[in-house]
Amino acid sequence: MAVASTSLASQLSGPKSISSYSGLRRSCSKLDHTQSLSLFQHLHSQLRLSSSSRKASRGIVAMAGTGKFFVGGNWKCNGTKDSISKLVSDLNSAKLEADVDVVVAPPFLYIDKVKNSLTDRIEISGQNSWVGKGGAFTGEISVEQLKDIGATWVILDTQKGGMSLEKMISFIGKKAAYALNEGLGVIACIGEKLEEREAGKTFDICFQQLKAFADAVHSWDDIVIAYEPVWAIGTGKVASPEQAQEVHVAVRDWLKKNVSPEVASKTRIIYGGSVNGGNSAELAKKEDIDGFLVGGASLKGPEFATIINSVTAKKVAA
Ligand code: PGA
Repeated sequence: MAVASTSLASQLSGPKSISSYSGLRRSCSKLDHTQSLSLFQHLHSQLRLSSSSRKASRGIVAMAGTGKFFVGGNWKCNGTKDSISKLVSDLNSAKLEADVDVVVAPPFLYIDKVKNSLTDRIEISGQNSWVGKGGAFTGEISVEQLKDIGATWVILDTQKGGMSLEKMISFIGKKAAYALNEGLGVIACIGEKLEEREAGKTFDICFQQLKAFADAVHSWDDIVIAYEPVWAIGTGKVASPEQAQEVHVAVRDWLKKNVSPEVASKTRIIYGGSVNGGNSAELAKKEDIDGFLVGGASLKGPEFATIINSVTAKKVAA
């Protein structure tokens, strides 16, 4: 897995820059740039109105939602007994800011080992779960098994599994509902592919994926939404803070209109896609970025700690 190590500034200006991916603006195909911008500003101002009092009381000026900052590390299919022992030991000795929920998702094989050696300060997530009660499903892991081993979260990714979007959409909501009913928290991943962004379909795709979750679940109390543009995952092409913020605002607005203003305010919307220790603070400064889902950079304890501690970028003086 590629671990992006360049600074945000150099990524934005270098050959891997994604600042030219302007497709998202084209999602409002009937609007010209000025109209599209004013629509965005309108959404923005509506949302900001509802959160201003909380920001003042907590002295945090860069947070639109009311949820605690959340950082997840998805180790994916990485690690050996040795490298995981080292990672756990680095995480155990890291100094982490208090006001952040921290979760790691080791490969299933190593969850037990990690659970038994990692500080309780960090929770454990599965990287996937079966859609219902366990049984004769080769290669799957059930929610019951995850709970049995001490996991409290599961990552559910709309882009996983090579299924068509339609199939995945009907499946993912059921998975989420089952996991939530059984008491796991769900990290619900949404995000567009590059060709979808370039075709101006970013919002449409994200809203479709959100709807798959919204139609199936009864409560949003234990759901964290991870916006993970597929083109930014493991590629070193991080979304600019503005690109991420733009989608996060749209997601919060969608929740406000389609679920409730309360859910829109309290649901954490985290960003994932080539987040690293060099770009997390700039991303965290954006009001609607409530944390991160980190892949490659979560495999290095000190760098993951830097990303967790980027919550301090939100606490700029009022
Ligand atoms: P990345 O992965 O940080 O390696 O891009 C992100 C993710 O898939 O959660």
